[in-house]
Parts: sequence; structure tokens; C-alpha cells
Amino acid sequence: SKVWAIVPAAGIGSRMQADRPKQYLLLNNRPVIFHTLSRLVSHPQIEGVVIALSANDPYWPSLNLPADWPVHTTIGGDERADSVSNALRLLQNLTDTNPWVLVHDAARPCIRHSDIDAMLQQLGNDPVGGILGVPLTETVKRVDANNHIEATVDRSGLWRAATPQMFRLMALSEALTQARQANINVTDEASAMEFMGLNPKIVAGHADNIKITLPQDLALAALFLQQQEN
Ligand code: C5P
Repeated sequence: SKVWAIVPAAGIGSRMQADRPKQYLLLNNRPVIFHTLSRLVSHPQIEGVVIALSANDPYWPSLNLPADWPVHTTIGGDERADSVSNALRLLQNLTDTNPWVLVHDAARPCIRHSDIDAMLQQLGNDPVGGILGVPLTETVKRVDANNHIEATVDRSGLWRAATPQMFRLMALSEALTQARQANINVTDEASAMEFMGLNPKIVAGHADNIKITLPQDLALAALFLQQQEN
């Protein structure tokens, strides 16, 4: 059966030092978010996308998405988790089942269909769900307040968390609510599920699924998109 996607896109992207939120910067002549949405709506298993936008987002109307893209908008919140919660609430009105939901950053335009396929295959029968991730390749240090190294952390078993993050609509909605009530800092959806005592699985994804964060990331993403097409 089909799954839904949720795209939190209500962030301001302060680390980008640009004149607009990073999801609206141009990548191969199209806004970043156009690429992200294109990859999601063109996946045969994705029924539709709910996107959370800043209130009065001035850039969204000029995106001119193709009219037949199944994209529904809602308003985001102060934190990423609030944006996702709002989107889940809208999604509950769009479906009377409890579908898998793929939460995917607007700022990750290089997501491959094959990575989404791997998630659906490896998590589709899982009781909890999971996320896309990449094993750490660099040596990791723990430092004190003065940046002196205290320890070299054992790298084996450490992963970078990426998106999509795939959970059941009702379970994720409940987990985000509980984490908020407990004042837990939730920087991704999996942390809310972990707070509930659950153990989401990590599916190994491609390292080119970068989150556009710093100015140089745009050139990298342009290169990755071009490579993926060849
Ligand atoms: O800032 P960061 O790169 O962690 O943001 C990840 C994603 O979450 C981005 O797509 C951003 O637009 C979104 N976000 C949101 N609402 C917020 C903060 C971030 O939808 N309040």
C-alpha cells in the first residue's frame, strides 16, 4: 500500500547567510525545494506530500509547481518537530488509515529513489520503522570546554542520521506529543520514537543525500544531481 511524505520547510536557514531560506536558493536554475518535491512526488509508492511552510512564506507562491503534483501545504512551527506535528495533523484529515510516513528535509534535494526503495523494503514489515543514515567515516573526538581532547570515541556503531525518517502516522504523532510535553529536544523524528522506548532501525543510504546547510553545499548538490542523472 502507499505511503505519504512530510516535508518540514519552515526553517530560516541562518547558517547559509543568504538572502532567503536555503530551500529557495537556486540549484540548476530551480529552487532546492523544487528538486526535493520532484523526487518525492515522482516515486511510485508515494501517494502525496504534506509540506510545512513558514506563515506568509513569500517564496512558495512563485514556485509554480506543476498543478498535478499531490502537494498539500500547512503552517510550520517554532521547532522542526512542531512543523512535523502540524503536517501530521493535516495528514490525519487526508487519510483514514494509519500509513507509513516518510519525513524528509526540504534541504535534501539529492534523495535517490533507490534509497527510498531500500527503506520501504527493509522497514515495511518492521513494527517501529527507521531512518536513512550513513556510517561515520572520520575519527571522532570528545572535547572539554576548552577544546582539549578528552577521548577518541569508538567510531564503530556510530552513524549520521539523515532523512527520510519512516514511521507510522499515529505512532509518530503520539511520540512527538509526548516528547514535547517532556521538554525533550527532538532534532529528528527518531529521537521522539527513542524517547518512547522504541528502537528505530537505520537503513544505509547514499552519502550524496546531503543536507544543504552551508554555502558550499549548493555546488556539491549540483554535482551530485548531475552525477545521478548519468
Ligand atoms: O535547520 P535544519 O537544517 O536542521 O532544518 C531541517 C529541516 O527542518 C529544513 O527543511 C527546515 O526548513 C525544517 N524546519 C522546519 N521548521 C522549523 C525549523 C526547521 O520545518 N521550525
